[in-house]
Amino acid sequence: MYSQGLIGADGKTHEDEAFLAAFQARIDAEQKIEPNDPMPEGYRKTLIRQMSQHAHSEIIGMQPEGNWISRAPTLRRKAALLAKVQEEGGHGLYLYSAAETLGVSREEMTDQLLTGAAKYSSIFNYPALTWADIGAIGWLVDGAVIMNQNALCRCSYGPYARAMIRICKEESFHQRQGYEILITLCNGTEQQKELAQDALNRFWWPSLMMFGPSEGGSVHSEQSMLWKIKRFSNDDLRDKFINATVPQAEFLGLKVPDPDLTWNEEKQGYDHGDIDWDEFWRVVKGDGPCNRERLKNRNRVHREGAWVREAALAYAQKRAVREEAARVAAE
Ligand code: 3HC
Repeated sequence: MYSQGLIGADGKTHEDEAFLAAFQARIDAEQKIEPNDPMPEGYRKTLIRQMSQHAHSEIIGMQPEGNWISRAPTLRRKAALLAKVQEEGGHGLYLYSAAETLGVSREEMTDQLLTGAAKYSSIFNYPALTWADIGAIGWLVDGAVIMNQNALCRCSYGPYARAMIRICKEESFHQRQGYEILITLCNGTEQQKELAQDALNRFWWPSLMMFGPSEGGSVHSEQSMLWKIKRFSNDDLRDKFINATVPQAEFLGLKVPDPDLTWNEEKQGYDHGDIDWDEFWRVVKGDGPCNRERLKNRNRVHREGAWVREAALAYAQKRAVREEAARVAAE
């Protein structure tokens, strides 16, 4: 795939057959690749692409839920939602830091997000219209995230894999808080149960789309699986998610909005109806229900936060000068 003689990530290695084979042997032996290790340029670029999209998803993902913090129905719900949204912000920060180890700056990644050049997960371009949506986001969206990201804990790139371990633990709490919201609503009044069903109706298909395109459309999967950045195909993870989630919907007494969903005894899993890939690509390309609003908000808060970044930088510079003066005085 890569032509011979390319300069590698460390600026020294030449990506000839021997180099690529030695790299693949390390991957096959399940050795972690660390920031200072030589690596093919394609590996580095794939990771930057995926990790920065992932970080952007965490940051943009704060918006649909952040919108409900002031309207949470009880103090307990408010505290949990606030903690969850804060943790998503934290995940974004770990992921930006992990991506920086590959030689891209936080500013570059942020700039790509703000200008709309970078992708983030399609799911966050759908609105959270009711309190039940907060339950559905936790249950379905974070449930899908865990299914995808548990596998990333074994990703071949060390800093990404290690960041994912903590992220997955926190995502587990996120999924449970969402499911618990829905349990409460489904044990409530008829109207509350209807809200829960309506949220499931709107979030089911977009949650399945989160796993990315099926076989033919997933252009990066084959190489990413060879490099053990991805461990499973998009379809395999989507199927695992459906198999785990349908019984949870049944427990809630809710109906999954897919008339073609049927248990397949032979494969011991569900067959599902067709996913609307036209809708998926429309949303990915910027024409979803909330794309414009999400980017507009992100740009606004970035502008409004400029003084915080400037103050932090000025403080860091002052501290560095003080520490240097103290070091010189101590010599
Ligand atoms: N939304 C937007 N774009 C998507 C997408 C989605 N749901 N699924 C796929 N795409 C894009 C890919 O980024 C790629 O575009 P590009 O070439 O411009 O980068 C294109 O569609 C083709 O898809 P591929 O399957 O070939 O791409 P990947 O191999 O990168 O697989 C992925 C896609 C499974 C999402 C993979 O990138 C991945 O596992 N990423 C890490 C996890 C992640 O980003 N999750 C976001 C979830 S939200 C989140 O984490 C926040 C949570 O805390 C609430």
